[in-house]
Amino acid sequence: MSKQKVLLLGATGETGGDILEGLLEDGSFEVACLVQPSSAQKPAVKKLETRNLKIVVGDLSGDVNDLATAITGYDTIISSISAPHQLAQLSLVDAAAKAGTVKRFVPCGFMTVCPPGGVMHLRDDKEVVYQRIWCHHLPYTIVDVGYWHQLSWFRVPSGRFDYAVLLERNEVYAGGDAKTLLTDKRDIGRFVARIIKDERTLNQKVFTYSDFISQNEIARMIEQKTGEKLELTHISEQDLLTTRANARAACEPEPRNMMVRLVRSQAEYNASKYIRRDNTPAMGKYLGYLDARELYPDFEPISFERFVDELVEGKGERPYEEMYAALKDMQGGEKAEGE
Ligand SMILES: NC(=O)c1ccc[n+]([C@@H]2O[C@H](COP(=O)([O-])OP(=O)(O)OC[C@H]3O[C@@H](n4cnc5c(N)ncnc54)[C@H](OP(=O)(O)O)[C@@H]3O)[C@@H](O)[C@H]2O)c1
Repeated sequence: MSKQKVLLLGATGETGGDILEGLLEDGSFEVACLVQPSSAQKPAVKKLETRNLKIVVGDLSGDVNDLATAITGYDTIISSISAPHQLAQLSLVDAAAKAGTVKRFVPCGFMTVCPPGGVMHLRDDKEVVYQRIWCHHLPYTIVDVGYWHQLSWFRVPSGRFDYAVLLERNEVYAGGDAKTLLTDKRDIGRFVARIIKDERTLNQKVFTYSDFISQNEIARMIEQKTGEKLELTHISEQDLLTTRANARAACEPEPRNMMVRLVRSQAEYNASKYIRRDNTPAMGKYLGYLDARELYPDFEPISFERFVDELVEGKGERPYEEMYAALKDMQGGEKAEGE
């Protein structure tokens, strides 16, 4: 039987990279990677080529007919484009509709469960893309994954986990007892591989999770496994709402400024997860999602506990390693200049 032909946008990124690994591990797909012309010579793309992956160069901001020609022949298109660039997918959706060969379009979801309509600007950007898919009557599957394990743990006072830290805050929000859906990054691609082979998920939304756990449970687990007393900053519901309001106000004069958007996204994620309690299986079902754990009861996720064990063993990995190094360099430079 011929393999399902998948075209993946974002394979050099965090989520896209995990999706790529999951698809390759599964073995039932012929995977090609869609990259923008300005990235074609990047070392990360060259690295994909050394793995014998086909590279398709296509410009999301160019002529839609050219893009349609480039993506013709693929059964499934998966997009995992960086958060600020969601609307760039509109031309990819148009091109997929023009190509006429796409049996399933998986737009860039991969975030927490939450309703559209003003809760999170990131969700609302994604919804614009979904609406374009529905407008074309394109077959689709939307996959959301909750939040990552890799962004949901706390540092310990000894600093022994710092090798894997991205966000250096140790903040607990609104009392810390809201349970949220978390997926280990490494499970994302394994879930996606199952989802795109499954007729039941066609024209559906699916949420995945490796664990469903609160910040207080995470803190207790880390204290118990390390024997260290965590130093946590407790942020009240009111303070979180104020932070969110300030972040939204800061976005108004410059809505496409990356840093301002990032701060707003963080505040909106936190309010949605910890105050509104959107990111739960019950909310997912209310919003019409299928539950990937019910669809695939034999799936063995990486539990949060296993993730913490790996951190303890020194086997954790920092996401966005390059971005983190660049930020550290910048901070180092600023410090040196200030000295
Ligand atoms: N659930 C969570 O906890 C969580 C955490 C982080 C992210 N996310 C979600 O995951 C999604 C992917 O984010 P990420 O942070 O994983 O991505 P990322 O690491 O920033 O990577 C983005 C990828 O998109 C490509 N790209 C960007 N603009 C493009 C364009 N115009 N045309 C073609 N390719 C383009 C990049 O390649 P080039 O740089 O070469 O263009 C890169 O391969 C986001 O939508 C975000 O909402 C979820």
